Amino acid sequence: MVRASQVNGDMALTFVGFLSPTTWVLIITTFVLFAIYSIWPYTVFKKMGVPGPMPIPCFGNLLQYRKGRGQFDEKCHKRYGKIWGIYEGRYPMLMVTDPEIVKTVLVKEFYTTFSNRRMAPIIKYYTNVLVEHLRKRESQTLQVKKVFGSYSMDVITSAAFSTEVDSLNNENDPFIHNVNKLMKFSFFSPIFLLIFLFPVSMPVLRFFNIFMFPSSVLHFFNSNLQRMKKARMKGKHSDRVDFLQMMINFQISETVKNEQGTVIPYKSLTDNEIQAQAMIFILAGTETTANTLSYVAYNLAVHPDIQRKLQAEIDEAFPKKSELTYEGVMTLQYLDMVTSETLRMFPVAVRVNRVCKRSTELGGLHVPRGISINVPLFAMHRDPSIWPEPEEFRPERFTKEAKEDRNPYTYLPFGAGPRNCIGMRFALMHIKMGLVALMQEFNIRTTPETEIPLEIGQAALLAPKNPIKLKFERREQHVKFAPKDSVKSE
Ligand code: HEM
Repeated sequence: MVRASQVNGDMALTFVGFLSPTTWVLIITTFVLFAIYSIWPYTVFKKMGVPGPMPIPCFGNLLQYRKGRGQFDEKCHKRYGKIWGIYEGRYPMLMVTDPEIVKTVLVKEFYTTFSNRRMAPIIKYYTNVLVEHLRKRESQTLQVKKVFGSYSMDVITSAAFSTEVDSLNNENDPFIHNVNKLMKFSFFSPIFLLIFLFPVSMPVLRFFNIFMFPSSVLHFFNSNLQRMKKARMKGKHSDRVDFLQMMINFQISETVKNEQGTVIPYKSLTDNEIQAQAMIFILAGTETTANTLSYVAYNLAVHPDIQRKLQAEIDEAFPKKSELTYEGVMTLQYLDMVTSETLRMFPVAVRVNRVCKRSTELGGLHVPRGISINVPLFAMHRDPSIWPEPEEFRPERFTKEAKEDRNPYTYLPFGAGPRNCIGMRFALMHIKMGLVALMQEFNIRTTPETEIPLEIGQAALLAPKNPIKLKFERREQHVKFAPKDSVKSE
């Protein structure tokens, strides 16, 4: 009888002998180099004296995102305080929550914002489509993200690409089809992971025309852009002012007025840049807005008293369901409080970040060049020392007085400083106009299928683990607004 260990030993020797010594040296060298490559960056925070969770080779702390980045940040914030360091793959990321440091980090560069008042008619049109759609599904249990996803996509695609789409009623529209394909982009796609773990692979992928987005989608948007440009050159264009039209105008003009009103030469955008901007617009705007609307609807359904107060404010501002106006909607105070409190509880962006361009001192800490500095919004928005009982939905946290009493850098759903969200005002108008139209027509109610409390999932953008299910019941009577009890401070 031969023992199993002896057989295994013989097999191992045969295997070793099977490869030449040079091959073995190459394999071992590759292995050692890979091991060094995988763990090399993990000394950064140790050298800086910054605490943080232990990384594992190659992945850093990525695998600890299993329950979502927001919850992971919240845990680290409780454990390490106002500054800690983590590694996303090989990238060191310094996390800061101290409002003064946050201010220094975010308020440095310059960036423009996207004006939006002129988009109000587009939004108004789609709020009618939304209400009409829900009328037909009155009292049915609905996954609200689907409904708001279509509403957001219609508004943003229409604003970005000059095109009228109706995804609520026409799923086969080529635009909807391509935008949906664009949205299916996943952080776990093999190409994204390859670029993430081995950034050096990027030029090679580019050489072989391999992109993160499907080439059919890129081709579709490019042909659309060319069609619009041709129409524009022939002087054919609608009076609608949309994002794409604005960029094409810039491209054609090649001059721009500076802040003093002087005309200066302008390095016009290339077609690729215009196309990328329009796509970013859709990617950055659709999910964020749809998720936020879903969270507001959820909060209102779970808190019928707050919903009634909001309806009362809206009924008073727009008696007998009168036409919405941009100014009218944007001045509703309680609506603003409800939206703000929802964005505090559910900041869809979870984190914002900046890269440190040169070595600098932050709150007594030496931060080397190249480090990514992150502001964990979810963790900050749920810090009980700033927001008592943070898991409670309390619009009163956003009265004028309560806001004045707080450091503004403790609440940043749209980021801050010159590089904050360029779609912020557009998004708020989009969300608020949608809500006003809904509140005029419906009561939003929970159903036995509504998950309470809501469990957060682990997607890159803050999204619920399971779909939010609610129903929309037609309102029978309007309620009277009592301003005195609607805006109390905490
Ligand atoms: C509730 C909705 C939204 C939320 C919560 C949100 C949040 C954010 C946040 C936190 C950032 C990073 C800001 C920073 O780094 O300081 C951002 C960036 C950005 N957002 Fe939004 N966003 C929303 C809707 C939109 C919409 C509707 C658009 C476009 C129509 C948009 C376009 C962008 C763009 C292009 C950027 C990148 C700006 C840059 O890199 O300079 N967002 N957004």
